[in-house]
Amino acid sequence: MGATMITGLAFLAIGATAYPHRPAACDSVFAGYQCQPEISHFWGQYSPFFSVPSDISADIPAHCSVTFASVLSRHGARDPTASKTAAYNATIQQIHKSVRDYTGPYAFLANYSYTLGADQLTLFGENEMINSGIKFYDRYEDLASKLTPFIRSSGEARVVESAQNWTQGFHAAKVSDRGARPHGDSTYPYSILAISEDAGVNNTLNHGLCTVFEDGPDGDIAAAAQKTWSNSFAAPIRKRLNADLGANLTITQTIYIMDLCPFNTVASPTGAISPFCALFTEQEWHQYGYYESLNKYYGYSHGNPLGPTQGVGYVNELIARLTNRPVVDHTSTNRTLDSNPTTFPLGRKLYADFSHDNDMTAIFSALGLYNTSTTPMLPNTTVVEAEQEGGYSAAWTVPFAARAYFEKLQCRGEREEYVRVIVNDRVQALEQCGGDRYGRCKLSKFVDNLGFARSGGGWDQCFA
Ligand SMILES: *[C@@H]1O[C@H](CO)[C@@H](O)[C@H](O)[C@H]1NC(C)=O
Ligand SMILES: *[C@@H]1O[C@H](CO)[C@@H](O)[C@H](O)[C@H]1NC(C)=O
Ligand SMILES: *[C@@H]1O[C@H](CO)[C@@H](O)[C@H](O)[C@H]1NC(C)=O
Ligand SMILES: *[C@@H]1O[C@H](CO)[C@@H](O)[C@H](O)[C@H]1NC(C)=O
Ligand SMILES: *[C@@H]1O[C@H](CO)[C@@H](O)[C@H](O)[C@H]1NC(C)=O
Ligand SMILES: *[C@@H]1O[C@H](CO)[C@@H](O)[C@H](O)[C@H]1NC(C)=O
Ligand SMILES: *[C@@H]1O[C@H](CO)[C@@H](O)[C@H](O)[C@H]1NC(C)=O
Ligand SMILES: *[C@@H]1O[C@H](CO)[C@@H](O)[C@H](O)[C@H]1NC(C)=O
Repeated sequence: MGATMITGLAFLAIGATAYPHRPAACDSVFAGYQCQPEISHFWGQYSPFFSVPSDISADIPAHCSVTFASVLSRHGARDPTASKTAAYNATIQQIHKSVRDYTGPYAFLANYSYTLGADQLTLFGENEMINSGIKFYDRYEDLASKLTPFIRSSGEARVVESAQNWTQGFHAAKVSDRGARPHGDSTYPYSILAISEDAGVNNTLNHGLCTVFEDGPDGDIAAAAQKTWSNSFAAPIRKRLNADLGANLTITQTIYIMDLCPFNTVASPTGAISPFCALFTEQEWHQYGYYESLNKYYGYSHGNPLGPTQGVGYVNELIARLTNRPVVDHTSTNRTLDSNPTTFPLGRKLYADFSHDNDMTAIFSALGLYNTSTTPMLPNTTVVEAEQEGGYSAAWTVPFAARAYFEKLQCRGEREEYVRVIVNDRVQALEQCGGDRYGRCKLSKFVDNLGFARSGGGWDQCFA
């Protein structure tokens, strides 16, 4: 924070007049979502982005300048997926059918009707992405004031729209920046390369090609881990809800009622905390957040034998961009796209990619993040907080509008550039490649350390 933050606030004051979308009450460009952080930062991948505490300062180290910045972003907050929205609705119908008397914190349920949509960004989610574009511009202003990022998006509507909203924020920031050249950017709206999510398409921003994972037992590990944990933590919650309401909810439905807290919150344009949230204690939200972390960890991270494998294609593309050399990959990259400078230009200094939580989790894992002694295997029977897991939790890594920055630094008196990785403002220690007190690794050491991805990451196991 510090100096960066102050520049940012000064800049925002200018930006606010030029740009009509004021940040929603609970959300802001720099700190992200801050209403009731003691619970809202424990909603797993359903937490709205918030600035995650960092042991290492995220400021650009003195005597260094940024020579390259690439962001990998999740889409903004959305409605529940179609299958979940049907299940949530049915659960609410069941409650309304059987409950006569709503008292205390349940009073709001008497008049609550289920109106959430399916799959699409909410207005709150669109604004999160606008804010994200502003924040990226501000951090990388030296490059951003002169350049336009090369942008790719996975093909699903909410992801492409997220990319568009991000460019709105980036562009608005540029327009209001007196130092920017050109002052207005004639290339706006920026072009976005959308890569289809259809079956069989090679897309490094969306999984689907790893057959053994998609069709086999490895795809079920996460659900098994979550079941063990939910049978334990959600049993007393279920008992309480059923005693209070008499709606005979199952464990699964108990968790649905918890899900309705984040989903109704992000359905509010201002991110106003939903009354569902008050039905549960702070400790129960920690248990819930952990339940979501188990889903990501055993689905797409080191808890799954084919989790990291699915992030390899993107990591090999990142290596190509960092080193200015053609992509070498035999996993999920598309050679037609990646060998064409129009669809995969090298030598650019700003890149932005838009994807999903699962894919980002796999990519972080393929990069070797959260794979050291500081991130022990997640137990299925007790909560381990992110601080004790080397900074790993679903909420700290892949909340709505999550963003990871990959930056190169040129530092005075040093011939070789450095690389840093910053996940939701938390600087990764990168001990794997000898990260220093700024979290920096020499570019060559960073790449050397990515042997897992460079050697294919066990892609053949997807077809074994
Ligand atoms: C529910 O709606 C009715 C009719 O509009 C109103 O009288 C009642 O106060 C409302 N209850 C709550 C808890 O908001
Ligand atoms: C919820 O379910 C009811 C009953 O099936 C249906 O009439 C209503 O349209 C559904 N609402 C939503 C938002 O899906
Ligand atoms: C977000 O982008 C979509 C186009 O993809 C646009 O329709 C919408 O208005 C934008 N949201 C805001 C808040 O400007
Ligand atoms: C690769 O990209 C090209 C160009 O967009 C497309 O025509 C082709 O279908 C893609 N192939 C695969 C396997 O994704
Ligand atoms: C958690 O559960 C999963 C799925 O059953 C299992 O693979 C994993 O080993 C368990 N984790 C621990 C630490 O026991
Ligand atoms: C409660 O639901 C279970 C199914 O989850 C069902 O077997 C049981 O009969 C129900 N009990 C009551 C009292 O409705
Ligand atoms: C798509 O990926 C597969 C490996 O999964 C590879 O065999 C194929 O050549 C790739 N297609 C293109 C167009 O790159
Ligand atoms: C995680 O660490 C182990 C032990 O050092 C190593 O064998 C494995 O390749 C690493 N995984 C990834 C994806 O880098």
